[in-house]
Amino acid sequence: TELKNIRNFSIVAHIDHGKSTLADRLIQLTGTVAERDMKQQLLDAMDIERERGITIKANSVRIEYPAKDGQTYILNLIDTPGHVDFAYEVSRSMQAVEGSLLVVDATQGVEAQTLANVYQAIDADHEIVPVLNKIDLPAAEPERVKEQIEDVIGIDASEAVEISAKTGLGIPDVLEAIVHRLPAPTGDAAAPLKAMLVDSWYDPYLGVVVMIRVIDGVVKKGDQIKMMQTGATYKIDKLSVLKPQMVDIAELGPGEIGVFTASIKQVRDTKVGDTITHEKKPCDKPLPGFKPSIPVVFCGLFPVDANDFDDLRDAIEKLQLNDASFSSEMETSAALGFGFRCGFLGLLHLEVIRDRLEREYDLDLITTAPSVVYHIHMKDGTMQELHNPADMPDLTYVDHIEEPRIKATILVPDEYLGDVLKLCQDRRGIQLDLTYAGPRAMVVYDLPLNEVVFDFYDRLKSVTKGYASFDYQFTEYREDNLVKMQILVNDEPVDALSMMVHRDRAEQRGRAMCEKLKELIPRHMFKIPIQAAIGGKVIARETLSALRKDVTAKCYGGDATRKKKLLEKQKAGKKKMRQFGKVEIPQEAFISALKMD
Ligand code: GTP
Repeated sequence: TELKNIRNFSIVAHIDHGKSTLADRLIQLTGTVAERDMKQQLLDAMDIERERGITIKANSVRIEYPAKDGQTYILNLIDTPGHVDFAYEVSRSMQAVEGSLLVVDATQGVEAQTLANVYQAIDADHEIVPVLNKIDLPAAEPERVKEQIEDVIGIDASEAVEISAKTGLGIPDVLEAIVHRLPAPTGDAAAPLKAMLVDSWYDPYLGVVVMIRVIDGVVKKGDQIKMMQTGATYKIDKLSVLKPQMVDIAELGPGEIGVFTASIKQVRDTKVGDTITHEKKPCDKPLPGFKPSIPVVFCGLFPVDANDFDDLRDAIEKLQLNDASFSSEMETSAALGFGFRCGFLGLLHLEVIRDRLEREYDLDLITTAPSVVYHIHMKDGTMQELHNPADMPDLTYVDHIEEPRIKATILVPDEYLGDVLKLCQDRRGIQLDLTYAGPRAMVVYDLPLNEVVFDFYDRLKSVTKGYASFDYQFTEYREDNLVKMQILVNDEPVDALSMMVHRDRAEQRGRAMCEKLKELIPRHMFKIPIQAAIGGKVIARETLSALRKDVTAKCYGGDATRKKKLLEKQKAGKKKMRQFGKVEIPQEAFISALKMD
């Protein structure tokens, strides 16, 4: 295909503004999928996705579009992940295309992820076409939202395309805008092969599928290729384009996007952003390198039942086949036994994985407090990364501790602004900016990531009744007065409840933890002290009084079956408990104790 007849683009939007619906419409209108197959096709894809637990990139698609100018264009849409935890992946896939459709819900206006995603498109030098969606709804205010796009984002919205992805209204205008307002790619077919690795995923039948964007040269089936960053070489077994199902193609030239398989075993072997070239006739310079996306939030995952350890290990390995950003390392805890210390891109990523382990693999898990990675600067000038508060080195050797800080952007209706400011202030935030975007306030805060990983989303949602939108970026590591707080139950430290806290917040948090645990731990036959301590010093204390009554006493009088039932019920309840010295702590205590009120 000639370069002038190719357009490569992505769709950027806040969650629920209609990105998937629009992608489906574009596919449908261009007959990429026959009308009657449409519904079935997409449903099938979802079923397979569910069954196999894999991601089908249904929204990355090659569309053939006969435009009004009489020429046929190849339009390549690349899907980008929508959530804040994956912002880094978004920035990488944006490098593979020349333009973006900026979809904004005309009833909602600009939201936090609209901003975060559009800034990435601007950083990638994209041409941007604003698209106002959901204009079929009576609440749509296209004029107001256009103004808002101009005020807040600073791009011209006078020629925004007004559409309803639901009814199909305006979709032809979107296609014409892609052809006439987005630039064609550039490249040299005669030059040595240079292609960018855009994305990759694991397919149980095909192995690893790699998506590429060709910059220069031509790639064919059977070619011997080299990944310049990893140095590995492969032979291309299958070369296809996504329509959205895989359709084989003989070759891909400059500006084109497609996928290949090459007997690659794991997603880990494919580095997004890597340069792919021919082994024999390589290009002279690779594309500018990308930083690998590194886990920023860590927590321990332990099976409730120690016998499930092998199952947990297998399940983690399976999930990692398709998710190179989820890391794990075996961990032993004095209290919880054998488990894994796992790393995630963010809290949502953590929740998604934990949820899948519990539901798809039927595992009962204990999750320890999520922790960020601290930089521990030692007196001898070395620096250690601390992934687990339990590994905190002896303080006499520590010079200072640094924690990761983020820049958080929150958009919220005016009436909830006060509560949001208070929440950020309570979490050691420093206000950087406060402006208005129409009827909504936009606040920008410098916050410690640590304070966000606990329950910030939940709190934000509840104080704003779900009307706030939130996004963040990592900024830097900064020194602060941080300490490790231990929790002792019946004088035994429970390592899984240890956490790093700011010294000024330690008493408050320690007290809250002790009070929570007092409610969560059932009473025993003896008195149980629950304490929070820093170093050897106790900073908070509660006492759980002893249980005196025999639980079976009230059954006294001979009803043996009733008595047996009661004991069985107790035994079943025990499965969800962990033994700490002489004390049993219920599983949910580990999560609930961390939620602050
Ligand atoms: P995620 O995939 O969750 O990121 O969301 P998305 O941005 O892809 O949004 P999606 O396409 O799933 O649409 C969100 C909701 O809005 C769905 O319930 C759609 O049916 C609805 N929707 C999308 N476009 C329109 C539209 O033009 N009009 C109306 N009334 N509803 C729409």
